[in-house]
Amino acid sequence: MMSWVEKHRPKSMEEVVGNNKVKEELKKWIEDYIEGKTTKPVLLVGPPGCGKTTLATALGRDYNFEVIELNASDKRNSDIIKQVVGNASISKSLSGRRTLIILDEVDGISGNYDKGGLREILRIIRIAKNPLILTANDIYKPSLRPLRQACKVIKIGAVHTNSIVPLLRRILLKEGLEVDDKILKTIAKHAGGDVRAAINDLESLALGGDLNREGAKDLHDRDVEKNIFDAIRIILKTTHYDIALSTTYDLKEDIQTIEEWIAENIPREYKKNEDIALAYDYLSKADVFLGRVHKRQNYGLWKYASALMTAGVALAKREKYRGFSSYSRPTVFTKLSKEQGSKALLKKILSKIKSKSHVSTKRAREDLIYLRIICKYNQSVAAEIAEFYKFTIEELEYLTDKKIAKKIYNIIEENIKCKKTEDRENEKRNMESPLSNGFSIDTVENIGSENLEDIKNINRDSKENGDTVVESNMDKSENILCKKNNKLSNKNYKKNNGKTKDKKSNLKQATLETFL
Ligand SMILES: Nc1ncnc2c1ncn2[C@@H]1O[C@H](COP(=O)(O)OP(=O)(O)OP(=O)(O)O)[C@@H](O)[C@H]1O
Ligand SMILES: [Mg+2]
Repeated sequence: MMSWVEKHRPKSMEEVVGNNKVKEELKKWIEDYIEGKTTKPVLLVGPPGCGKTTLATALGRDYNFEVIELNASDKRNSDIIKQVVGNASISKSLSGRRTLIILDEVDGISGNYDKGGLREILRIIRIAKNPLILTANDIYKPSLRPLRQACKVIKIGAVHTNSIVPLLRRILLKEGLEVDDKILKTIAKHAGGDVRAAINDLESLALGGDLNREGAKDLHDRDVEKNIFDAIRIILKTTHYDIALSTTYDLKEDIQTIEEWIAENIPREYKKNEDIALAYDYLSKADVFLGRVHKRQNYGLWKYASALMTAGVALAKREKYRGFSSYSRPTVFTKLSKEQGSKALLKKILSKIKSKSHVSTKRAREDLIYLRIICKYNQSVAAEIAEFYKFTIEELEYLTDKKIAKKIYNIIEENIKCKKTEDRENEKRNMESPLSNGFSIDTVENIGSENLEDIKNINRDSKENGDTVVESNMDKSENILCKKNNKLSNKNYKKNNGKTKDKKSNLKQATLETFL
């Protein structure tokens, strides 16, 4: 499946958002070139993802040029440049059209390996008969000075949020989706002028079903992963020692984490068995060095581990794999965090059972077996128990499966609702009845249980007199008294641990009996 950045890459200058001045400058340059007013190539400089490559190709198309593009990960040795750029630069293409040559990411050219490449580019600039556009993120490396001098440098800035939002909206419409502009603004803002990042975020949120306010806000937390995604992409795509080695310099992750990421994604990029085998071979050697670093506390070995796992893996492939590969977070982390997550849940469940039932951890663990069976076979009893222990839905999911946990939780909610309406009705009745008989709620609540019999007697007498109103009111008074006594006894058994324990075990026994 084609990624959204590729699928929605602008075909013409008009579709490229932001940087209007740059667009005008480029148009002027190509027109001047056609008219023979200039022969200088353009060096387009700007941050990643702002549209340098897109602009260069769109310009070529708009002016009906055949476009030849050389990417950063291509081997830029002098032979290849001579072959591809050298030929194209002095001749018309087969179709008879003139050729525009794009040398992408020239700042990747550095070190001894590329010296020949850089020299060759400078030579071609001198003899070229066709327009050349070079692109770079950073041209202030000393080694690129001659290139700066030989070109017309056009600086392109990060794209403004206000220009990114309409682009995101258009892409969504083409994908048959529509969301609030506020969500798109959050995504655009987060991308910090990098259009590619904004489209990638939009795609991952849309495909993950998280295209909402929360999802857009959560992007912030994914920054770290985004950086490592970029580093892994470069390591697996490039065939340059220097480029691969430098990817990890700015990463916050420790070296073991990077190793896991590379290990996970090698087979996602590399397709030939020999390449995969060799890449893992380098990775295993890196692991041996890392082991020694730890065992011997010899940090000097670190650089070998790092070189083997980045440059080693990058050079393990005979040639670069083109096209989009979808990388993933190491599954080992997901497994680990799942395991840690369930361990934490178990700990919480056990501590709830321990504190409510006053039993040891060992006993609480044993009780889990019964709890699991109850959850499976009698959800209404399970609901009572879950309510008693105040289990959350996640804890219930740990004890049983998701479907049953939901069922139990629904019963609990239903019970709570019933209880609330019952309480409200009782309260309403209590507010009315004691007052109509000369009792205030206080007076009724202040009556001790020893007075209950007296009230019952009065009640009985009243009954014999056929006074039904008093009868019902007396029942209410009894209700209130019983509630008060219940409250008191509850307080008492909370104070008395030993007794509580008995009571709880009785309760458990009772629930088990109900279940059986
Ligand atoms: N200004 C823009 N208008 C519309 N789409 C853009 C723009 N900039 C980038 N994009 C989108 O982002 C993708 C990547 O852009 P592009 O490759 O041109 O960035 P770049 O500046 O060359 O980045 P890098 O420095 O990493 O090479 C494009 O395929 C396109 O979908
Ligand atoms: Mg580019």
